[in-house]
Amino acid sequence: MYIRTLALQNFRNYEACSVDFGRGVNILTGKNGEGKTNMLEAVHILSMGRSFRTRNDAEAITFGKTFYRIKGLFGKGDEDMTVEVSMNGRDKSFFVDGVGVRKGADLAGHALTVIFSPDDLRIVKDEPEKRRRFMDHELFQLKPLYYLDVIKYRRIVKNRNLLLKEQTLNEPLLNVYDGYLADTGARIMAERARFAEKLAVISAGIQSRITATSTDEEGALEVSYEPSVAFTAIEDARERIAAELQSRRAKDREFGATTAGPHKDDLKLVSGGVDLRKYGSQGQQRTAALALKLAEVDIIKEETGEMPILLLDDVLSELDEGRQKRLPDSFEDCQIIITTADPPEILTEAFPEACHREISSS
Ligand SMILES: Nc1ncnc2c1ncn2[C@@H]1O[C@H](COP(=O)(O)OP(=O)(O)OP(=O)(O)O)[C@@H](O)[C@H]1O
Ligand SMILES: [Mg+2]
Repeated sequence: MYIRTLALQNFRNYEACSVDFGRGVNILTGKNGEGKTNMLEAVHILSMGRSFRTRNDAEAITFGKTFYRIKGLFGKGDEDMTVEVSMNGRDKSFFVDGVGVRKGADLAGHALTVIFSPDDLRIVKDEPEKRRRFMDHELFQLKPLYYLDVIKYRRIVKNRNLLLKEQTLNEPLLNVYDGYLADTGARIMAERARFAEKLAVISAGIQSRITATSTDEEGALEVSYEPSVAFTAIEDARERIAAELQSRRAKDREFGATTAGPHKDDLKLVSGGVDLRKYGSQGQQRTAALALKLAEVDIIKEETGEMPILLLDDVLSELDEGRQKRLPDSFEDCQIIITTADPPEILTEAFPEACHREISSS
């Protein structure tokens, strides 16, 4: 799938703007602060219904204005699709082909994107929450039911924690919460396990492709799911979460928090016998992060039959020359939108057919 035209109204530094994109590689250049990332953010909002940069999407309304409107014309196979997201004060509305969609979660899955921003370079070394969010984000696009489970699960954990902090414990209610957590938690863990298995195979392939000659030194990338509660299958997961919550009750009550369950999961990342999360060099951590993100492209393609749009926000300059050069080999049929403040020669060399666009706010 690809985006043909993006039209913005009152979105960040764009009061009115329309941009056409090529089907292959698009390179957006421009000085710092000209609005390159803003443009990727807008495309991403069309795919996920919300920003990847802020929790408060109203921030994206141009200063002094009361609404924004983003409209994208996409090509999907032989068909066209329009997606529109607008925000008026605090209210957002979503349209696909002119038909209203109730909420952001229902928008996901129409326009498919994978975004890689400088923040993502840290998914390997940052706290487990980043890696859980990475898994969730990917699964949100593929499985609307997963999204609902995650929302429900988070809400129950929050309520359970409040209950645990109360002076006298309402045990019957705690039992009810634990039952819900075991049900939704087991579904979440089963999806994550399935996802991690695919991720492991695909990301190892990508990592060895982009590191090429240095694979021997670095070793292959080994990705595995590290669930907070060990389990074999979904039924088993349900029982084990329930048993774990039961056995931790005294401790949970002491901490006023739920100490086990999928909200404590992690992804394990090893290369050459070394846990990259703790001991990887900066370059190894970045390459592994890139391999994980790029694996999303293949997984989405596999699961939906559609190639997502790859949005690369100023990240290629973080890789060494050889790695930058080998990158395009992995994404022949993929529309890529790359931003860079200073186009290094190498980008033009790596993507000779790219469309170049200078972004300027004046
Ligand atoms: N709500 C808003 N209204 C108007 N302008 C905004 C708003 N939010 C952000 N901006 C402006 O957008 C600009 C930042 O845009 P953006 O992050 O896309 O820059 P960039 O081209 O990616 O820069 P860099 O190369 O530094 O990453 C800033 O100048 C900022 O003032
Ligand atoms: Mg930027």
